[in-house]
Amino acid sequence: MDLDFGAVSKVRIPLLLECKIQGRKLACLTAYDYPSARIVDEAGIDMILVGDSLAQTVLGYESTLPVTVDEMLHHLRAARRAVRRALLIADLPYGSYHTSEEAALAAAIRFVKEGGAEAVKLEGGAKRAALVRRLVDAEIPVMGHIGLTPQSLHAMGGYRVQGRTPEAAEALLADAQALEDAGAFAVVLECVPRELAEVITSRLRIPTIGIGAGPACDGQILVLADLLGFSFSAPARFVRAYASLRDVVENSCSRYAEDVRQGRYPSEAESYHTNLSQIDTENAAPRAKIETAAG
Ligand code: KIV
Repeated sequence: MDLDFGAVSKVRIPLLLECKIQGRKLACLTAYDYPSARIVDEAGIDMILVGDSLAQTVLGYESTLPVTVDEMLHHLRAARRAVRRALLIADLPYGSYHTSEEAALAAAIRFVKEGGAEAVKLEGGAKRAALVRRLVDAEIPVMGHIGLTPQSLHAMGGYRVQGRTPEAAEALLADAQALEDAGAFAVVLECVPRELAEVITSRLRIPTIGIGAGPACDGQILVLADLLGFSFSAPARFVRAYASLRDVVENSCSRYAEDVRQGRYPSEAESYHTNLSQIDTENAAPRAKIETAAG
């Protein structure tokens, strides 16, 4: 298989598995709208997740719990219109796969048929194995997500690093293995100690994608707003911000407001012009024809 990534015009699941075998790390990000998904895709990111983190980062909810399938679909469709190369994955939101396998299947099929998702992601390990099998049987590739699973916020008693005791570490190992055995094509490890992530990564045939899980994972994922410094919450320890977009946007808006208030915007060069010499501007009817000169 060609692992010259410059030559890969479309990332598909077999390529991800090949990357693991060859030790080529996978770079993944979230994106939830047309411009950001397009830029992320054109930057060569391998997997783009329309994550339920959009509940907080773009919709302003306190947690990921309230976001609905319809809200997710709205963002997924926008990302779909932008993404050409990356594998496009959609997060099944809380409640969409917790009542029955049928409900989960219906939501996942909507993401594929109406939203153009190429895979779905869901949270939970061994307890989701039967559901993962069912989705895979319905031709829907599934990415697992274990460790800190934000949809279990109340059950976990807060957002905490997971797998720190020997029992918890063994349970996470079993969860990861159960997801692989059920047919998941990759698994996200969120906020687990790097040593444990390394063991899980070495045991699995499918790629592990870390977020706060150290450098041994087969790939990494970050929330785009965190990477860009475009968020209101204090960044977690694992976040590396490559920009301070919130400052850039705030500063740009303030400078614009000041220019408007001081009469500095728009300038001559930013205005359109016409010749009014043949028009009696004093008495012209409001709908008088004016020859406009573009530019
Ligand atoms: O919703 C999301 O953005 C995620 C990533 C943090 C993995 O699940």
